[in-house]
Amino acid sequence: MTANISPDRVAELTKSMEEALRLRTRRSGEFVEEAKQVLPSGVASSFQENSPHPIYIVEGQGSKVTDLDGNEYSDFHNGFGVMVVGHAHPVVAAAIAETAKKGTHFAAPNEGSVTVARELSRRFGLPKVRFSNSGTEATLDAIRLARAFTGKDGLIKIEGSYHGHHDAVMVSVHPDPEKMGPRAHPISVPQSAGIPQALLDMTVVVPFNDPDALDAALTANNDIGTMIIEPIMLNIGVVPPNDGYLQAVREITRKHGVILIFDEVKTGATVAAGGAVEKYGVAPDLVALAKATGGGTPIGAVLGTEEIMAQISEGTVAQIGTFNGNPLTMAAAEATLLSVLDADAYVGLDRIGGRILAGCQDVCDRYGLPAYAVGVASKGCVMFASDHVVDYRSYVEHFDDSLNYLGWLYHMVNGVYMTPGADEQWTLSVMHSDAEIDHYVAVFEEFARDITNG
Ligand SMILES: Cc1ncc(COP(=O)(O)O)c(C=O)c1O
Repeated sequence: MTANISPDRVAELTKSMEEALRLRTRRSGEFVEEAKQVLPSGVASSFQENSPHPIYIVEGQGSKVTDLDGNEYSDFHNGFGVMVVGHAHPVVAAAIAETAKKGTHFAAPNEGSVTVARELSRRFGLPKVRFSNSGTEATLDAIRLARAFTGKDGLIKIEGSYHGHHDAVMVSVHPDPEKMGPRAHPISVPQSAGIPQALLDMTVVVPFNDPDALDAALTANNDIGTMIIEPIMLNIGVVPPNDGYLQAVREITRKHGVILIFDEVKTGATVAAGGAVEKYGVAPDLVALAKATGGGTPIGAVLGTEEIMAQISEGTVAQIGTFNGNPLTMAAAEATLLSVLDADAYVGLDRIGGRILAGCQDVCDRYGLPAYAVGVASKGCVMFASDHVVDYRSYVEHFDDSLNYLGWLYHMVNGVYMTPGADEQWTLSVMHSDAEIDHYVAVFEEFARDITNG
């Protein structure tokens, strides 16, 4: 039975936990004022803002991070899903240190980029690879390659998905429900000021987990040549694909002659060695990678078929960048992919992923929370939703941000550094111990007990 949770009780607990976090992180609260003199909001990326104030991190070792006030936390944020290797992993740190001694940048080809490309090609089953420095660049390159290949400007994306901060994809990322239009014909809503209307007109959005809507949209718009999709939606908690959905997406895009891009910036190297391609056995034409692939260095990569990637060697498509294939990044990626995130690592991540999900689900059940635990390998979260979320609209309908925020405060005050924001999830690393997983669950239980005890 679902518990009766009083909004007044939630508000009162939120106030006291915010105060507790403010006190624990007082130096961060003071430093942000200094930081604001040079950085808008006092942070380097707006994703680093959070309530009650940004918390500055000074060090990470293994599964732990330390903040400016000297508080140590078990890190479940893991740098927005990058640090699956854990912090300062000795193998990755040694690879970076050795490379640094020999020069960090030449903007010339190096052997490391070939080794890393070969490993990514093996994992994702696509023959050709090019590097960049972020997920944004990876999806930008993938879309350009697809547009060039089909000669069509139109792009289709999933409503509620984030693919980086370039203009083509900053469309209906988290659209205001008032502005998003009817489900059958969602409106393309800009995610920021400064997105040209011409680009909004080129980007059509459809709901996740709905093959019929995709087929209808592609039938109605024959100027669309590219589809980009996150195989598991990981920017509204965790929303896995329904059985057969990704296979249907593959068939429908093929039927319409549309190039299919899997944005595996978050799933790649986290949900399986070969990301969602391996997990779901569906072969896209292009894959965009970043985050965990680089073991904590800035990386991006686009992987594709011979025919699509040949446009680069033929010189018709520009795929360029001063830092592409940077030696430090390549050394870290090689150590990450070949030495740390081996087959055993994924067995371990599956195991602890199962442990944290089972623990959190048990708490949801025993306390009757309007919430459920969901995840895949190292990625997971508690969805504070009264019903299962299958797409952005059901997320808007069912998700309770106030409970999510209070749950986050409980973790932060109790030594668990959890990803801020309703859109996010935990990322487990090879460094997490069972005791840390159990601590996460124990804090969640404390939260459950307090909110149902009002
Ligand atoms: C699915 C997805 N694609 C692309 C990006 C952009 O990556 P980056 O922040 O490295 O530019 C992100 C970032 O969170 C992401 O979650």
